Amino acid sequence: MKKQNELKKIAAIEAMSCIKNIISKKNIIGVGTGSTVDYFIEELSSFKENFLGAVASSKRTELLLSRHGIKLFDLNELTELEVYIDGADEVDYSLSMIKGGGGALTREKIIASSAKEFICIADESKLSENNLGKFPLPVEVIPMAISVVSRYFRDLGGNPILRKDFVTDNGNYILDIHNFKIGNPVEMEKDINNIPGVVTCGLFAIRGADKLILATLNNGIKYFAK
Ligand code: A5P
Repeated sequence: MKKQNELKKIAAIEAMSCIKNIISKKNIIGVGTGSTVDYFIEELSSFKENFLGAVASSKRTELLLSRHGIKLFDLNELTELEVYIDGADEVDYSLSMIKGGGGALTREKIIASSAKEFICIADESKLSENNLGKFPLPVEVIPMAISVVSRYFRDLGGNPILRKDFVTDNGNYILDIHNFKIGNPVEMEKDINNIPGVVTCGLFAIRGADKLILATLNNGIKYFAK
C-alpha cells in the first residue's frame, strides 16, 4: 500500500510538471477525485499563483482545493477548459477507463467531456493488459430505477451490488457491477447510457483519456498517448 501511494504521488508530480508548460494565468484546471488526485492537489497548491483556479469534480475535491486556497469555478462560467487531470480505477492501452470508485463519475465525465485534454494519472496496478472489467463497473442510478437497472445487468450476466450507505453528490445511488465482461468499451458505454434510470456509467471510452502518466515500480514513469 505504501509503495502504491508513492507511485500515485510520483504520477501526480509528473502531471504537474507536464501542465506547467501549457497553463497560463488565465487558465482554469479541471480536477478529478480520488487519492491520486489528492497528491496532485498538493502539487497544484504550490503553483497556484500561475493559474486562475479550478473546477472540481466532487464536493470532496472542492473542499480540498479551497483548503489549499485555490479559487473554485463553476463549469457553467467557463467557455473553455484547457486540461482535466484525474485518476482511474482501471485503464487499458486504448486509454479507455473504468472510473467511479469514489462515486464522482458523473461530474468527472461532464468535466472530462469539456476539457481540451484529459490526462489520466495512475500507478501501475491500474493498467489492464486485456479487457477492462477487473474493477467492478460503477453505475450512477436514479433511486427509483435501482431494481429495473439491476435486472438489466443481471440479464447481461453481471452481478449488480448497491453501494452501501452511499449517496452521490447528485443525490443518486451507485450500483457496482461485478463479473461484468466488457468486450467493446465504446459500444458498451453507449448501451448502458441508453438504459432508463442510468445517470452515468463509469466506462470512460467514448471520451477516454488523451494521455496516461503511469508510475511503475521497476520501469519509472511510462507515458501513453492516443
Ligand atoms: C472517483 O470517482 C474515481 O473515478 C477515481 O478517479 C478513481 O476511483 C481513482 O481513485 P484513486 O486515485 O483513489 O485510486
